[in-house]
Amino acid sequence: KKEIQQVSEEEVEQLMQSLPKVTIMNNKLELVNYQGFWHPSLANYLKSTLLFQRHFRARNTDLIIASFPKTGTTWLKSLLFSVVNRFNYPNKDQTPLLKHHPHELVYRLEVDVYGNAFEYPQPQHLDDLPSPRLLHTHLPYTSLPESIMTSRCRVLYIGRNPLDTVVSLYYFSVKMMKNMEGEDFRHPSMEEFFEDFYTGRVPHGPFFEHMVGYWNQSLERPDKVLFFKYEDLNDNQVFYVKKLAEFVGMPFSTKEESQGVIDDIVEMCSINNMKELEVNKSGVINKYFEKESYFRKGEVGDWTHHLSPSMVERMNTLSLMLEKLEGTSLSF
Ligand code: A3P
Repeated sequence: KKEIQQVSEEEVEQLMQSLPKVTIMNNKLELVNYQGFWHPSLANYLKSTLLFQRHFRARNTDLIIASFPKTGTTWLKSLLFSVVNRFNYPNKDQTPLLKHHPHELVYRLEVDVYGNAFEYPQPQHLDDLPSPRLLHTHLPYTSLPESIMTSRCRVLYIGRNPLDTVVSLYYFSVKMMKNMEGEDFRHPSMEEFFEDFYTGRVPHGPFFEHMVGYWNQSLERPDKVLFFKYEDLNDNQVFYVKKLAEFVGMPFSTKEESQGVIDDIVEMCSINNMKELEVNKSGVINKYFEKESYFRKGEVGDWTHHLSPSMVERMNTLSLMLEKLEGTSLSF
């Protein structure tokens, strides 16, 4: 078996020292700016990112979900898994989603696989996964390993409106920090966290640049990158699940449609259903992330309960400004 080449600690150390750093979450979470985006420095994240960038070889059949945190990754993972595996588990009571959290079925490359720290398959095992491999990354488009760009593998991105994303990220981050630091962790207020999000200083931020990178690719190479918006998916799930299936080359037949296969998938992956599954109610992913914390409300517009009018106005102004600056047609 091919040995995975290592990235030396010295190299990581030197790189770390040369990169800009900030701390957020009341000075408890350090981020380093690598290739224009902020990444957590915990858990040797930079090292595993380098390993992923250098050693991952995409197969033409790979299906890679990409996302900014809290934009609907878990949802898209469960939908993609269901669509691709529907012939393996024709009986809906057999779907592995009943026994595994979606994050255990679609691995995150730079953490689960190349992070090496947890109970997931090691990089060598990537070769043993059957095609199509379903994988995930939070890296921005410009940091993806070259073979993802050059192979014929496909990328599915999910974006979400910034207001719901910042709220979702706030609650998730506070939980995560309490798990890391202890219950008495003094968490930042929403105002403080908003400021960090606004200035891009959150894991994988800046948010807009992350989305725009993939959005532009989805316009330039529509057969390579499919861009979902959380809100659109929420409004018209059947339509987008069909679109997803077509994009990955496994369209639904008319017979399947009339048998209600799409509706079953939508129902199975709905937040209300997923939230109630025993497997998603307890336990953790990667030590600090409670399985249940991936299913909070799943609503469009929950921000109205959490953000002040001035925060909303500032964020909207920033979105508009960036839309103009980037010359992008992406809007929420
Ligand atoms: P909220 O915190 O607004 O509820 P990610 O999967 O990228 O970490 O994103 C998590 C967000 O997606 C959370 O948003 C979560 O509740 C929501 N979510 C998780 N599963 C979902 C599903 N099946 N349908 C809709 N939203 C879902």
